[in-house]
Amino acid sequence: MPILVEVTGLTYGFRGPQGDLAVLRGLDLVIRPEEVVVVTGPSGSGKSTLLSLVGLLRRPPPGTVSIFGVDVATASHATLDGLRGRMRFVFQKSYLVGTLTVLENVLSSLVPLPETNRAFDDARARQMLRNVGLADKAAALPHQLSGGQQQRVAVARALVALPELLIVDEPTAALDREAARVVVEQIRLLTRTMGCGVLLTTHDDRIMDIATRRLHLEDGMLVAVQSASSSPA
Ligand SMILES: Nc1ncnc2c1ncn2[C@@H]1O[C@H](COP(=O)(O)OP(=O)(O)OP(=O)(O)O)[C@@H](O)[C@H]1O
Ligand SMILES: [Mg+2]
Repeated sequence: MPILVEVTGLTYGFRGPQGDLAVLRGLDLVIRPEEVVVVTGPSGSGKSTLLSLVGLLRRPPPGTVSIFGVDVATASHATLDGLRGRMRFVFQKSYLVGTLTVLENVLSSLVPLPETNRAFDDARARQMLRNVGLADKAAALPHQLSGGQQQRVAVARALVALPELLIVDEPTAALDREAARVVVEQIRLLTRTMGCGVLLTTHDDRIMDIATRRLHLEDGMLVAVQSASSSPA
């Protein structure tokens, strides 16, 4: 089975006024298709930093991060753009485009097809909005939506592209139980039907069961978490 994400001995930090801050300290992680890897950890432990490195938003040190088999540190901009086309990111904040309608935001994730196929994209985007319970909001602008509804649009925008790798930072913090379940089920559907791999951070106990594997980030390292069902009696 191909490896989607391979992180080996990743060390990463920030330079600040009070000196250097080492956030990730020799971290290892492998993600394969159909896996849903859930990372928990205290606030400030480096979860979003890890996601930004795997999500190609920052350059990792050479030889530490491979995505779809490509060493990110030494890849060209063109190669990185190619990798980005195969993944989608849902941020802790939803980052919808405020001047586009909800439907247009979802459509923006799809590579435009020739004019004759627009209707197909449109139908897919509307179906995805239906899947996250927002069929009636297609024509609304983001500021007319609640925070939780905006977050669901961001999830729909990511899922509609059928990415091979989905990176999700705290997707359900602003959602009630039912909406959180809807988001989780849509993500699970993508992994089961398309073989997508998922890297997701959360504090939300209501959605831990989405994980095929749980990891805890503390002191710059990832430690496996025994799930309740697999721990010895
Ligand atoms: N651009 C930056 N410059 C300097 N320090 C940063 C930067 N981004 C993050 N940090 C620091 O790195 C550490 C890890 O931050 P990160 O956002 O990865 O944490 P997190 O685990 O996602 O936390 P939360 O659960 O609150 O979202 C924190 O101490 C943070 O202050
Ligand atoms: Mg974070």
